[in-house]
Amino acid sequence: MSTEPEFANAQEIAWIEVIRKMEEVYSDLISYEVELEEKNSALEEAQRFITSVLSSVSDILVVCDPRGAIQQVNLAFLKLTDIAEVDLLGQPVDDLLAENLGPLAYWLEAGPGQDREVRFKTRDGGTSEPVALTCATLLDHRGLPAGMVLTGRPVGELRRAYEALKRAQAQLVQQEKMASLGRLIAGVAHELNNPISFIVGNVHVLTKYRERLEAYLAAIHGGVSASQREAERVHLRIDALMDDLPGLIEGTREGAQRVADIVKSLKRLSFSDSGEPQAVDLAELADKAVQWAAKGRNSAAAIAVSLPDGLAARGRAGQLHQVLVNLVENALDAVAGTPDAAVSLTGRRQGGSVVVEVADNGPGIAPADLSKVFDPFFTTKPVGQGTGLGLWISYGIVRDHGGTLEASAGAQGGAVFRMTLPAA
Ligand SMILES: Nc1ncnc2c1ncn2[C@@H]1O[C@H](COP(=O)(O)OP(=O)(O)OP(=O)(O)O)[C@@H](O)[C@H]1O
Ligand SMILES: [Mg+2]
Repeated sequence: MSTEPEFANAQEIAWIEVIRKMEEVYSDLISYEVELEEKNSALEEAQRFITSVLSSVSDILVVCDPRGAIQQVNLAFLKLTDIAEVDLLGQPVDDLLAENLGPLAYWLEAGPGQDREVRFKTRDGGTSEPVALTCATLLDHRGLPAGMVLTGRPVGELRRAYEALKRAQAQLVQQEKMASLGRLIAGVAHELNNPISFIVGNVHVLTKYRERLEAYLAAIHGGVSASQREAERVHLRIDALMDDLPGLIEGTREGAQRVADIVKSLKRLSFSDSGEPQAVDLAELADKAVQWAAKGRNSAAAIAVSLPDGLAARGRAGQLHQVLVNLVENALDAVAGTPDAAVSLTGRRQGGSVVVEVADNGPGIAPADLSKVFDPFFTTKPVGQGTGLGLWISYGIVRDHGGTLEASAGAQGGAVFRMTLPAA
């Protein structure tokens, strides 16, 4: 009898254990479910985020499986083709190309960064606007190829951006030109002011002198006596006047000459971009510039031109000619008082550039002047021989060509001007 209740008791204990286990499993399940739901909503959030990012970019995006069947597209692609997403998914992407270019996957072999202009078929049987398409391998979580990703930007958009960029750049160049024109005009006004006020002052004095001379002549023509004439001459200070006259006339002439020089120099300025840049043979250009510069100078200097054959810059021949003429003229002026005067023109290629140097054995440039020689109107030459615009104009021309113009002291004295230009 005693075993029966014992058995019943053991059975009950087993049941209680089973129920306890079930409860444990159930509560685990509940907590797993909560966790799962949280993860799921985080995933959905991430998915929504990615989808909204993908649909807001204007570039098209197409994801394909390893056989080229479309797996995912973005809004930009739907808009481009006007085909519904359901009709696209699972389709071979190659079939959607307007022209038969062969399997897109072959592009992958061309490497990253290669793009190609393609058009897609559209819903109405037409073709889309051209797209610059690039193709990349899609890798799975193990890093193995799992398909391809096509991204592309409508070429029209690229072209518009490029046009806008070009316009902005042209505007900047124009603004820079206007600014430098403004600086030049301010300089010209300043430079002209000096000789003109000089001339005006002299003419004022000359007018006064004329009145005194007229009075003196009137007395003489009136038949005054010799002593009266002498008195008039002293009173009107005729001797001092006559001493002054040559200086006044010379000063006025110099002022007028200076004005004429400035105006002549301004004519050298060419603001027009005469023609497109071309290959310019520098040896030929140097020979011509030397002839041109020497013609007006009557110089005794030995001029050596040694530029290698075939050395060519990319630029506008007329403007570069002007630069070299200016440099050679300056060199000839510099060596004017030097015994064994010599000027040399040399050239070489240096990477993607060409370098031309004009060197002389003149007195060189004072260190303090090195930074000033390119300023407009900086000159150390007497009136009638220089306006100080030559190097300023040359500097502007070379800069517009994308090159540089520098002055330095020569190794054996004298000055060296180095022009660097893009090679042709
Ligand atoms: N080769 C050189 N040696 C020494 N000084 C020079 C040399 N080249 C230029 N300079 C100095 O630079 C100044 C400015 O030269 P730039 O060619 O601009 O004007 P300029 O020759 O005086 O006048 P312009 O060229 O207008 O007739 C010169 O007056 C001179 O002082
Ligand atoms: Mg000069």
